[in-house]
Amino acid sequence: MINSKNEMKNLISKMTLEEKIAQMYQLYGGVYDFPEEEGSIPVTGPAEEWEFEEQLLFKIGSVLNVNRAQKARKIQKKYLENNRHEIPLMFMYDIIHGYKTIFPIPLGSACSWDMELIEESARVAAREGSVSGINVTFSPMADLVRDARWGRVMESPGEDPLINEKMAAALVKGYQGTDLKKDDTVAACVKHFAAYGAVEAGREYNTVDLSDYRLNNYYLSGYKAGIDAGARMIMTAFNTLNGVPATGNQYLIQDILREKWDFFGPVISDYGSVSELIAHGYAKNGKEAAQKAVQAGVDIEMVTPEYIKHLADLVTEEVIAEKKIDTAVERILNLKYDLGLFSDPFRYINESGEEKYHLCSTHRKKARQLAAESMVLLENDGVLPLKENLEEVTLLGPFADSGKMLGNWSGEGDADDTVTAKEGLVNELPDETELNVYSQIENISQGKFLDIIETVKKSAATILAVGEPQSWSGEARSRTRLTLPEPQEKFIKKLVNVLKEEEEELNLVLVLFNGRPLELEWYSENIPAILEAWYPGTEGGHAVADILLGQVNPSGKLTISFPYSVGQMPLYYNRYSTGRPPMDQEVEKKNCSRYLDVPNHALYPFGYGLSYTEFEYHNINLEKNKITAGETNQLNFALKNSGQYKGQEVVQLYIKDCYANRVRPILELKGYQKISLAPGEKKNISFEITEEMLIYFDENGQNVIEPGAFEIYLGSSSKDLRECGILEYQI
Ligand code: GLC
Repeated sequence: MINSKNEMKNLISKMTLEEKIAQMYQLYGGVYDFPEEEGSIPVTGPAEEWEFEEQLLFKIGSVLNVNRAQKARKIQKKYLENNRHEIPLMFMYDIIHGYKTIFPIPLGSACSWDMELIEESARVAAREGSVSGINVTFSPMADLVRDARWGRVMESPGEDPLINEKMAAALVKGYQGTDLKKDDTVAACVKHFAAYGAVEAGREYNTVDLSDYRLNNYYLSGYKAGIDAGARMIMTAFNTLNGVPATGNQYLIQDILREKWDFFGPVISDYGSVSELIAHGYAKNGKEAAQKAVQAGVDIEMVTPEYIKHLADLVTEEVIAEKKIDTAVERILNLKYDLGLFSDPFRYINESGEEKYHLCSTHRKKARQLAAESMVLLENDGVLPLKENLEEVTLLGPFADSGKMLGNWSGEGDADDTVTAKEGLVNELPDETELNVYSQIENISQGKFLDIIETVKKSAATILAVGEPQSWSGEARSRTRLTLPEPQEKFIKKLVNVLKEEEEELNLVLVLFNGRPLELEWYSENIPAILEAWYPGTEGGHAVADILLGQVNPSGKLTISFPYSVGQMPLYYNRYSTGRPPMDQEVEKKNCSRYLDVPNHALYPFGYGLSYTEFEYHNINLEKNKITAGETNQLNFALKNSGQYKGQEVVQLYIKDCYANRVRPILELKGYQKISLAPGEKKNISFEITEEMLIYFDENGQNVIEPGAFEIYLGSSSKDLRECGILEYQI
């Protein structure tokens, strides 16, 4: 039994080189598919292709995607019986937005701007994953994204560095709690280091080429925030960064992660990304791939066999010092020790806990709350919230009665456990309201269409539950178009045209289930109400009903820009001015930085989201118009709910650095607060403005603060701004 880290160091000194290298290897759970009868484990799949011996399965350091307590117990027991040093196996899994109870996709949760609730969702996920034996989750994903074509935008916090930082920290705290040895915690692994969200043209696994200036000012701070919050592991990215694959990138791992950020935990590759150094053309073979990855500082290879096959030879040939191996193994065993696995390898495995916690009502309630807070009301000309005592409501579309709204990193979530939009409405509509449901609207006969039209015409409201099939979102799901599936678009346009021709009232509500910003200009002009629901998770149907029926007043605000056209990609609010910024007034625009066919800005901008109530900003007062080094400032104002619904408003503090020795964004989010107000209620709010908000990074990542003028704004979005004054900063 190892009772101290010194004893653990001593243990390492007793391990053979082969045993140490095996700790640096992670296989997938399927290799432990034990036969029913006792006996040896058939080595199957890639493990067989790589001609692994069964004994290796009892030496490797960790395994991913084992998903049940009973299975984890069986594996751990057999592993310990066969491991010479009784070193426990570590279990890792992609708990990205829930384990069994699934929360909204991270892009959705980010739109809640409610970091406490996001932290709580991670607590729930940790509890549900840990009882199934999970020790480490491959989350948070802190990849800033500005290109909606990329499939994994659904997994990101969006386009803003501050939101990225806050969300990474909230998730790490939620997963890890205050004591990693507690059985309701899992260790967090921040990914994908680095800048995976900047793949060229939004094409999956594509090249990333960024100036250090842009890398430091936009892309790195989310990973660092996760590490500062205590994350215990980092995963490298698939992409190259400036010509060097992230998984073999000494600058990223050694210079930034180890030396500058002083990160002490293990670094794991992404799935196969060590072997992929060959495909990148960065290694001539598996042996060189192993050499370059371990030299860069990758401590664990995920699944591909280069470390297992070549590290021992590289050490024997003195290409790699054994000390490098020992350091990697120490990081890995440190994590196992801090998880409490040495003192109790079965600590997290709790079969009865699965019964007790998975999908329990408390967890479902939390998922319903975050799902509702993640939804963003994009348009509403008064159709919402639906009036009470409606006689008849019609629900149309592929998401009307489908549980497939969990997103593509939904762990052990199951569509059968998911509350559909229909179920949500049936549960929440008054009994006397008749609900007509048509899931099939794509490629239907004219007769079927006319039947639907007649039903719609006699309905007080019609809800179009449409969106992207889940298979269009997530890893390896990049798209060149940001449209709804054509059959859905065709049906909706035909429906609207017929209703308009017959001068029928358009009591239509578009509810979108999707994993990325879409092109919605036509919908914004023709559909009275649009609700962005994302992939809302297990309680999605209840959350949709809560919003549509006004039980919850929508408070979501976009953390990623919705474009007029995919041609605007990459699109983000915190852009640079250029030397010829387009004048906004409608004059003939001469040669300036613009398109001929769409505006530069977003259709729905960063920070945008409507409410059923109205908020007014009063008595805006910037206490000082200049500060010097060491001083702070205060922005005071009053926020009033002047409408008839209680609601939450995300008040946003933006700053514009007017001139500097590097061009600075036309606007930067520097703070926000989510304020709840009853109808008629007014609250005094303050933002402290600090020097830290005026800092930017130079290309070496060094803090820069310069004297100059900073415009201060208060926003209900990045477009709906109130000037608060100009702050002079003097050194
Ligand atoms: C995938 C993803 C990564 C995930 C890993 C393990 O390819 O890139 O985010 O954690 O493999 O499933």
